Amino acid sequence: MDQTVRVKNTGLRGVPVADTKISFIDGEQGILIYRGYRIEDLAEKSTFLETACLLLDGELPSEERLKSFTDEVLRAREIPAQICESLALLPKDAAAMDILQAAVPLLAIADHEISDETREANVRKAVRLIAGIPSVVAAWNRIRNRLDPLPPDPGLSHAANFLWQFHGTRPDPEIARDLEVCLVLHADHTFNASTFACREVVSTRAHMYAGVAAGVGALSGSLHGGANARVMKMLMELQSEEDVAGWVKDQLDKGQRIMGFGHAVYKTTDPRAKILREMSLRLGEKLGQPQWHRLSVAVEDAALAELDRRGKHTLKPNVDFYSASVYHLMGIPPDFMTPLFAVSRIAGWCAHIIEEKFAEAQEKPALYRPESDYVGNYCGKMGCVYQPLRERRSAPSSP
Ligand code: ACO
Repeated sequence: MDQTVRVKNTGLRGVPVADTKISFIDGEQGILIYRGYRIEDLAEKSTFLETACLLLDGELPSEERLKSFTDEVLRAREIPAQICESLALLPKDAAAMDILQAAVPLLAIADHEISDETREANVRKAVRLIAGIPSVVAAWNRIRNRLDPLPPDPGLSHAANFLWQFHGTRPDPEIARDLEVCLVLHADHTFNASTFACREVVSTRAHMYAGVAAGVGALSGSLHGGANARVMKMLMELQSEEDVAGWVKDQLDKGQRIMGFGHAVYKTTDPRAKILREMSLRLGEKLGQPQWHRLSVAVEDAALAELDRRGKHTLKPNVDFYSASVYHLMGIPPDFMTPLFAVSRIAGWCAHIIEEKFAEAQEKPALYRPESDYVGNYCGKMGCVYQPLRERRSAPSSP
């Protein structure tokens, strides 16, 4: 009997490919859990480093473990000067996600434990990545603006330190706490495209940094983490609430997608979007810029109504929809919104990479290696006859 599972052209929707103990989504109910804990609880009570430790260790850290974890992160925040010098040689208008992806192998080269594949060494590498990725993102913002990267401040929280190294000014504590919540919300999300890319790469026994570089590449796409930047560009182009209904209808009539809407797993509102929606309202009022929240709500209302009319009842705002206005209010330019997503998701990627490398064999495939159906030329068992170049009929010239 043919044992082949037919999941072609479905993007593997609904197909479990491994067991995981890291996170869980109930897409019908809009529930997200990290290691057993509801995202709403973690957003309210935890910090990013505590959540990162939870994702990596599998349980909430003791006071002692959190202190040692935090100390390790603080020590690893200062990235080698050669990395900043290398980045400074690159064109200043390069895409920030390309820079981040290029910087990951540089971090690998600087890691003295790169070839140690024990679990303990991989956890230490994860700590260095959790510390290093924000430093790279902040450094690139400085370098591209022809400013020197700033040293980290060990007295600041993870989010506050990022804002300091990025902007060069000490952040308002309330805004820093809001960013801390954003980092908690974005830290993991089961087998999303970038996490799957990380796991697929390390299933070959490649090192953690190779997996993370693939994850950064996958995250950059506009259907995944790249959507937040596209949402912000949309809000900037729209300018006024009066434009919204017509614009949404026009987009959908043209077969375009509304960025920040829809999700491969959620069939209701993403629980992270609910928290970010409230944050964008509060931050906008605090900073005297309520227009971004108002505009976002106008797009949400118009899109929900228009999608409903077209029978698309399950397309709701996802995490990228309200994170756009929140990040804008924090002074993050659109092209740094996806890198900021990576500043958080690095925790989940590393937890998944460790799970992939050290899970029991029955919990995952030994090496991801799907099948494909060949639908190209076929000239029988012997293959097509190779013709020397000069005997080939000239191909039609390209348009
Ligand atoms: N706007 C309009 N229509 C949409 C949208 C959208 N945002 N999303 C899906 N659809 C439509 C599709 O056109 C398709 O219609 P059809 O059946 O008439 O052809 C139908 O809904 C199903 O689309 P799929 O791509 O198959 O649905 P899926 O649920 O797998 O897609 C995805 C998920 C890729 C996120 C999609 O909703 C999308 O493109 N959204 C916009 C980009 C975005 O916000 N990405 C961020 C997601 S969250 C994250 O990755 C961090």
